[in-house]
Amino acid sequence: MRTRLWEVGPGWSPVEAEPGCAAPLTAGAVASVAMGDDGEALLDAFFPYRRRFETRSSLPAEAVSHAHVLAMVDEMASEEDAIAREGKVSGSIYHGGEDHFAFLAEVFRRFAHVNVLQRDMYPSATKFEGEIIAMVASLLHGPEEACGVVTFGGSESLFNAVLVYREQGRERGIDDPQVIVPVTGHVAIAKAAHYLGVEVVHAPVTDEFAVDVDAVRALINPRTVALFGTAATYPHGLIDPIEALSELALEHELGLHVDGCLGGLILPWGERLGLDIPLWDFRVPGVTSISADTHKYGYGPKGTGVMLYRSRDLRHRQYFTYTDWPGGLYASPGIAGSRSGGLIAATWAAMVTLGEPGYLAIAERIFRTAAEIRAAVEALGELRVMGDPTFCVAFRSEELDIYHVNDSLKASGWRMNSLQFPPALHFCVTLPNTQPGVTDTFAADLSAAVEYAKDPPQAAPRSGAIYGGAGTPEGNVQVNAMLEGVLDAMYQLAPPA
Ligand SMILES: Cc1ncc(COP(=O)(O)O)c(C=O)c1O
Repeated sequence: MRTRLWEVGPGWSPVEAEPGCAAPLTAGAVASVAMGDDGEALLDAFFPYRRRFETRSSLPAEAVSHAHVLAMVDEMASEEDAIAREGKVSGSIYHGGEDHFAFLAEVFRRFAHVNVLQRDMYPSATKFEGEIIAMVASLLHGPEEACGVVTFGGSESLFNAVLVYREQGRERGIDDPQVIVPVTGHVAIAKAAHYLGVEVVHAPVTDEFAVDVDAVRALINPRTVALFGTAATYPHGLIDPIEALSELALEHELGLHVDGCLGGLILPWGERLGLDIPLWDFRVPGVTSISADTHKYGYGPKGTGVMLYRSRDLRHRQYFTYTDWPGGLYASPGIAGSRSGGLIAATWAAMVTLGEPGYLAIAERIFRTAAEIRAAVEALGELRVMGDPTFCVAFRSEELDIYHVNDSLKASGWRMNSLQFPPALHFCVTLPNTQPGVTDTFAADLSAAVEYAKDPPQAAPRSGAIYGGAGTPEGNVQVNAMLEGVLDAMYQLAPPA
């Protein structure tokens, strides 16, 4: 039987769930159960609405009114968005402007019900998708033959990348394909490889936390079908040496996917603003595909990304067509079958209404704020910035437990992302963080957090020990079981109050 969240006993060290994988309340709830906190308090943290709204385990016998539902969702949404509005959240909310979101919702509304598979009914989808892909390809210097697909986000784009290079390898007679991925490459690549029966071989990073190209070279073997690099990495916001990877890819005739899911739509503006950003896009000749997420720094609604290929033959390898089905001829570009036209229309609308001036202006604010965040970290001798980041600043400490620092930042209302191997935090700067006063408050709270970490009230930090638990085979088994418990809990009905 799987461990359920509230069955994880106090024998556990204090923990925090994987960032980006669990909601903050989940992480807090896991931490508090591990601390042996009162079970009711834990349930209230995980199910904050159980005392306010009815929990439904079957369809209501009488229909609930629109007004009632709207009042409920208004209450939930305004409470849940409050922390992001203050500008104290790393990543997650990329634009945050109420007018922008309201406009996107207006556009979404007109196509929400549309299934874009039905192009005879909805040719607008062809216009929107084609133009989204072209706009991203042009920003990333795609050659004339560059093409792509709109996906539901980074994970689907990376799934497509692993699939395409697996198929290309098979055509070349490689039945047991491997991809070489930096340890800092996004875990969605490992997930895709897991689904697709491809082996991931991890390449280490250097002291600067970008991939070690010599190590990649040494790992290439006849089973290798593709190399992966990132611009910029989720953990540390850094760009792998794509030009060096490109030379290897060209020499060995391998695919080279650059995961620009996070950085793909902000780094080009950094370059235009004169920042020192190494080449990483299609100008690098060995780059064969790039993912860039429109639902991150593209400022579209959640649920879209773009996967670009240097040539059409690569894109064809992700298509699925089927001619022998009684249901008719079937053709689908990716994992999804029916897809909503609303997301695609709203993504397109975000891009064209921001335009070059909008993206540039937002990027200028984000890079300036990130420089201030970096300066705030560098001002504290106990902390060290990792590598040379431009918009997502990761930092660690050799003398303090960085998770104690996080505990104090959390208490001051900040939501950083915790990292491991080595323990660190990152602050991925987005538009809400650029509000006046945010960096000054961060500098003061960070300084106080460092003082707190020098003499913390309890030895084990509340926000990090799950990372200490992972890393050994036995530890990983336990931590995996706990993470499965967290996932199970996300689908649980709130217990009666
Ligand atoms: C570099 C990178 N790649 C891929 C992803 C996965 O994207 P998604 O969460 O949209 O599936 C992320 C998410 O943060 C990322 O930072």
